[in-house]
Amino acid sequence: MTELDTRPPRAVDVPALVKPDRVHGSVYTSQEIYDLEMTRIFREGWVFVAHESEVPEPGDYITRRIGGEPWIVARGRDGVVRVLANRCTHRGNRLCNADAGNSSSFRCPYHGWTFSNDGTLTGVPMRNGYGEQFDAVLNGLGLKPAAAVDSYRGFVFACLSTPPKTLLEHLGRATTAMDRLLALSPTGELDLRAGWMKHDMPCNWKMVMENNVDGYHALFTHASVYDAVKPAKVSHIPSKVEVWVRDLGDGHSEIDYSPEYTRLDEEFVWFGRIRREKLPRYVAAMEEAYGPEDTHRAFVVGPPHTLIFPNLFLAEMNIMMVEPMGPGRSIAYTTPALIPGADELNEKMLRRAEGAMGPAGFLIADDGEIGARNQLGLAGPAPEWVVLSRGTESDLNDATGIVNHDKSAETPQRGWWRHWASVLAGQASAGSDSDDKGAVHA
Ligand code: FES
Ligand SMILES: [Fe+2]
Repeated sequence: MTELDTRPPRAVDVPALVKPDRVHGSVYTSQEIYDLEMTRIFREGWVFVAHESEVPEPGDYITRRIGGEPWIVARGRDGVVRVLANRCTHRGNRLCNADAGNSSSFRCPYHGWTFSNDGTLTGVPMRNGYGEQFDAVLNGLGLKPAAAVDSYRGFVFACLSTPPKTLLEHLGRATTAMDRLLALSPTGELDLRAGWMKHDMPCNWKMVMENNVDGYHALFTHASVYDAVKPAKVSHIPSKVEVWVRDLGDGHSEIDYSPEYTRLDEEFVWFGRIRREKLPRYVAAMEEAYGPEDTHRAFVVGPPHTLIFPNLFLAEMNIMMVEPMGPGRSIAYTTPALIPGADELNEKMLRRAEGAMGPAGFLIADDGEIGARNQLGLAGPAPEWVVLSRGTESDLNDATGIVNHDKSAETPQRGWWRHWASVLAGQASAGSDSDDKGAVHA
C-alpha cells in the first residue's frame, strides 16, 4: 500500500464551493472538506514546520503536528535539520513526548527501542527474541522522514509526500515578505525562542488565517482597544490611510502598510514611533550591516503583515502558525520575532507581544472571540454563501500581484480561496499554478 491509498474519497465538489466573489459556508464546517484539506494541503503540500533558531545546536529537537500527525524536528550531529515521524516503528507509540529538548537519541517508552536523532534504529532490547530473523525484521525500521524538507531564510518547511513543486515555487512572491522582515535584522537572522503562546480557537483554521489579512474588521472587532489606547501605528479607518491589500498569488496575501509609512517617511511608526536614540546599539549594528540609507528605509517601511499559505503568518514583529484541530477548532501559536543582538528592541518586543497576543492581550482575544461567533453563526445552513466581493471592481493587476488600494477590500480572501480551491481540486502542481498569479477574478 502506498500512502496515496489512504486518501479520503473525492466526494467533495470543490468547484461548486468556491466562486470568485463568495464561498460556500460548509467550507468551514464540513468534516469531509476538513479531511480533504489534511490530505491535499497538509500532507501533499509544503507547510511551515519550524524555524531554524528553534533547534540551533546539534541534538536540539522540537515536536510538532502536521495535518494531525506527530513529527519531530531534530538537528542531527551533522548539523542537518530533519523532520521525522514521531511514531515508534515497533508498535506505533509516540516516541518523543516533550515539546522541546536536546538529545542524541530517542528511546521509546513502551519497549525501549532506541533511535538516533537522524532517525536510525540503533537499539532493540532483548534482540535474541527475533532469532535469526533479526536483520530481516528490523531492516528499514528507522524513523520515517518527511518526503521533503527545505528552508528559506531560516523558515523550515516540510512536505510529507513527494512535493508537487519546489519550496521556492510554493513561496512565490511571499519570499519578498520574509526578506522584508529579515531586512530589520543586522545579521539577517531571527531568534524564535521566546516561546510560543498557544491560543485554542473554537473556529475553523481558515478563519484564523483569513482574518489575519482582513483590513475591514479592525474598527469593529477591536473597538475596545481603540477606545482604551491611542492607535500606535496609523489610523484604522481605511479611507484615511494609504494602506493596500494584496493577493500575492499561490494563496499568499498581505496588508501592506509600506505605502503609508513611506508617505510619512518616519521611522518606527510601526513600533510605537520609538525614537532611534532609544535603540543605539541596534541602530549602529544595522548601519554597520546595511549602510545608513537601507537602514533608514527598513526602519520606515517596517515588517511585513503577510499570510503564507497555508499555516504561517508574518504578523509584523510576531510570527503565527496555525494548526487545524478539526473543522471547528484550531490552535494559533504566536511568538515574537526577536532579532539576535538587538536586546533593546527585543525587550520592548516581548512586552508588545504580551500586550497584543498574550493571554490577557488586546488583539488576539478579540479575534478569537469573533472566530468563535463566526463558527457559531455558520452552524446555521442558510444563507448558503459567505460574501467576499468587497473591492472586486477596484482590484488592480501589477507585477506584485492583485493589489487594492482600499485596505478594507477582500482581495486577500479572494486570493486565498482561489488557491485553496485549486489545491483541493488537485491542480496546484508545478507550473499549473501560473493562472493563480494572474487576474482570474472573472
Ligand atoms: S512501541 Fe516502541 S518499542 Fe514497542
Ligand atoms: Fe483582528
